[in-house]
Amino acid sequence: MGISSTDFAYLRELLYHYSGIVLDEDKEYLAELHLEPLAEIAGFDSIATLIKFLRTEPFNSLHVQVIEALVTYETFFFRDIYPFEALKNFVLPELLKNRKEEKSLNIWCAACSSGQEPYSIAMLIRQYFPMLANWMVKIIASDFSSKALARARKGRYNQIEIQRGLSETLRNKYFHQENNEWQIQEQIRSLVEFREMNLIQSWSFLPQMDIIFLRNVLIYFDTEMKKTILGKVRQLLKPDGYLFLGGGETTIYLDSSFKQVKLGKYICYRN
Ligand SMILES: C[S@@+](CC[C@H](N)C(=O)[O-])C[C@H]1O[C@@H](n2cnc3c(N)ncnc32)[C@H](O)[C@@H]1O
Repeated sequence: MGISSTDFAYLRELLYHYSGIVLDEDKEYLAELHLEPLAEIAGFDSIATLIKFLRTEPFNSLHVQVIEALVTYETFFFRDIYPFEALKNFVLPELLKNRKEEKSLNIWCAACSSGQEPYSIAMLIRQYFPMLANWMVKIIASDFSSKALARARKGRYNQIEIQRGLSETLRNKYFHQENNEWQIQEQIRSLVEFREMNLIQSWSFLPQMDIIFLRNVLIYFDTEMKKTILGKVRQLLKPDGYLFLGGGETTIYLDSSFKQVKLGKYICYRN
């Protein structure tokens, strides 16, 4: 089908305006790959006709579908492992001490995609911190994509997804097999509260957080947007809280008030 440079510029603008994501100029082939099936399903004979239609219509669910088709959802259980070791060996033991009076913890997983990240946190808590069973532990997992959230809420993964990052022990303990898929158990699913939320819009309904996972999403934003988001994270994070970023992400050169802390083989950020 192909995609003209003016149509690609329109898509980049649409995506940026709605999500803050900067689609690289050399990613035309990706747009083509993901929009071709969508154009066909929606009854258009080409991506060009689809975009022509989008341009003339007020913003609607088709625009959202196009945006969602351009986003990267890559994720897997216990991604990069070291952040989860830091959480288990340093961060949770420390916060357990600091919060022993109020017995409450707020954890936010800010771009949760199909749910593997918040469920990894929930499994880690159930597996290694049984004493938290009578605490108020709130794991809020959010994403702007209703498509990703619908998958996350179901907690159902195929054979390839279940093998990525998850040990057999945790799989057998916290999932059961249904046909060719693996369903997460209710005791883990119910620990996570999923919410639709766009990071470039208001965060006003969120409570102060002890732990924030904001991993592998800042990389898609431009410098100004990264600074704005990190500034809001700083406001939301409790004074003794911890921020977890993705492997290719940092606060350096963006927000000098964050301090780096090396926890085992992982670097965390604090206010
Ligand atoms: C690559 S995934 C990362 C998932 C997970 N955090 C991880 O590290 O494995 C990026 C996620 O960020 C979400 N995302 C991108 N822009 C967003 C925005 N403006 N607001 C909320 N979520 C966003 C996408 O929908 C996608 O699910």
